[in-house]
Amino acid sequence: MKVIITGALGHIGSRLIRELPLHFSNIDIVMIDNLKTQRYASLFGLPDVARYHFIEGDVTSMELAPVLSDADVVIHLAALTDAAASFDQPEEMERVNYTATKRVAEACAHAKIPMIHASSTSVYGTSKGKVDECCGDEDINPQSPYAEAKRNEEILIADLCKKGELQAMSFRFGTIFGTSPGMRFHTAVNKFCWQAIMGLPLTVWKTAYEQRRPYLDLSDAVRAVAFVIENRLFDGKIYNAVTVNATVHEVVDQICRHVPNVSVNFVNNRIMNQLSYHVLNTRLSAKDFGMKGDLGQAVKETLELLKNANAR
Ligand SMILES: NC(=O)c1ccc[n+]([C@@H]2O[C@H](COP(=O)([O-])OP(=O)(O)OC[C@H]3O[C@@H](n4cnc5c(N)ncnc54)[C@H](O)[C@@H]3O)[C@@H](O)[C@H]2O)c1
Repeated sequence: MKVIITGALGHIGSRLIRELPLHFSNIDIVMIDNLKTQRYASLFGLPDVARYHFIEGDVTSMELAPVLSDADVVIHLAALTDAAASFDQPEEMERVNYTATKRVAEACAHAKIPMIHASSTSVYGTSKGKVDECCGDEDINPQSPYAEAKRNEEILIADLCKKGELQAMSFRFGTIFGTSPGMRFHTAVNKFCWQAIMGLPLTVWKTAYEQRRPYLDLSDAVRAVAFVIENRLFDGKIYNAVTVNATVHEVVDQICRHVPNVSVNFVNNRIMNQLSYHVLNTRLSAKDFGMKGDLGQAVKETLELLKNANAR
């Protein structure tokens, strides 16, 4: 099997390229990344169990057709991913992320290759309490330019599938936690782990402490991607992927089990709102796929990675 992964050196991709061979033997993995974020370390020490091929390229401009030939599936992860920073560059967010997804989707349609698209639970904005993929438009309320671009990408993918031009599905991933060689530290759980180890106060958005939001263990993200490929779930639908719905308070409690004297500093942020919601994996559960990740264990592993980074 030949798999193309865009954005392969990122937080999700750098774990996916190592673990997909555990699900599929005899696999060719073609990794595309523009190296803008310089995550060369994601390529260090790749296992011998797969055939890897790295292409430095930008999916908003590179020629995709020759790369896609003979592929069995494209997993599209390439994106600008800092939601909070996206307020300062809304046009760039739409230009890069939407254009990237459109180009990849059209190339997949042309080559008749199925596509997995990574969207985000940040497209939700509801005070309903519980929400799933079957919700109405009233529960979709992207709170940042990043989330708006994700929603527009979902619509694009669904339209192409409806017209019969593309076989694809979109994941709405919860905020990722868990370690990988290309991991980032600007999303909630990892950022708090970093701050705790560095002896800094945890910077929590003022409204967010008791709000419940969806998180996804990286190991579950990889398993869910493999499940979609194994079961050929390219039905044009959106699938939520969430391990746990937690409050920041609960995340901080997990960190406090390992790091003493953690303090919290409440700060303003442009994504602040009064919304607290719980995202259900209705469609994956209906296919008998269950999440196995563990927030406490992932927090422990993340802190462990950094344990000697700041002697006190
Ligand atoms: N990490 C999360 O919490 C999370 C949650 C929901 C959805 N997602 C989505 O999952 C996908 C992967 O997320 P991630 O956390 O691995 O992101 P990441 O920022 O860690 O990695 C993205 C990778 O894409 C590359 N890239 C960016 N633009 C590119 C382009 N135009 N051409 C080629 N490469 C490009 C970057 O260099 C980087 O290596 C993204 O679409 C993201 O929006 C992530």
